[in-house]
Amino acid sequence: MSVKLGPAARHRLTMLTDSRQLQRVLAFAVYTLLGRHLPWSNRPFGQYARRLRAALGEWMLDECGDAVNIEHGALFGSGRGIRLGDRSDIGMDALVIGPVHIGADVMMGPRCVLIAGAHNHADPDVPMNTQGMLDDRPIVIEDDVWIGAGSTILPGRKLGSGCIVGAGSVITRDVPSMAVVGGNPAQVIRYRTDEQVPSMLPAAADDTEASKPLPNRPKT
Ligand SMILES: CC(C)(COP(=O)(O)OP(=O)(O)OC[C@H]1O[C@@H](n2cnc3c(N)ncnc32)[C@H](O)[C@@H]1OP(=O)(O)O)[C@@H](O)C(=O)NCCC(=O)NCCS
Repeated sequence: MSVKLGPAARHRLTMLTDSRQLQRVLAFAVYTLLGRHLPWSNRPFGQYARRLRAALGEWMLDECGDAVNIEHGALFGSGRGIRLGDRSDIGMDALVIGPVHIGADVMMGPRCVLIAGAHNHADPDVPMNTQGMLDDRPIVIEDDVWIGAGSTILPGRKLGSGCIVGAGSVITRDVPSMAVVGGNPAQVIRYRTDEQVPSMLPAAADDTEASKPLPNRPKT
């Protein structure tokens, strides 16, 4: 008797027979059931919890650097599409849905949201929940960035190296290197260096309004 498998069952079977996928599924289960519930890394025994979460991160994420800190409660699906550089954080209770590429030495406060996907909403005559998803637009965080607590980074945005995102910001445009930005939508508060450095902005990947660099906050 031959058993016919549907596409979903075939996909699940492939996942269980491919060793990398199997590793990811097992790590995801241990992380979901145990790792993410263990204490915050600053709490008693938190260093052990941190080490376990980092070890699981190596199995789950596409790339996971040395000495990373995946904090208590962080959610990042199976880790597919996520790269985390050396000494970088995924903050407490963060929600990170890839593709998200995080460089080295990135600090992330609690409750940040980085989601590369979005719902299609092009047709106003059709319920949005039936229009499917747009193509993912990767979020890129360069090296040495500090993302303050409760910030949201929208799909396709890039945070330039050395920038600071103030607590509670919503990042709707690319952030220049060394800028300190804040607010909703975020604006440049100042630069960490004396000179203004918009020329350090990489060329926009697409030519939409959202790819233009953040405006400076108007002087009061
Ligand atoms: C962005 C930040 C680093 C700026 O610190 P700072 O350089 O000391 O700036 P100041 O407090 O002097 O504020 C400068 C101006 O920016 C504004 N500002 C500061 N933080 C802001 C924020 N998060 N959103 C919007 N505006 C902000 C201030 O209101 C002030 O405006 P004013 O000049 O009109 O009065 C800091 O405010 C911040 O948000 N840090 C993140 C804290 C955090 O999330 N900690 C969690 C642990 S990781």
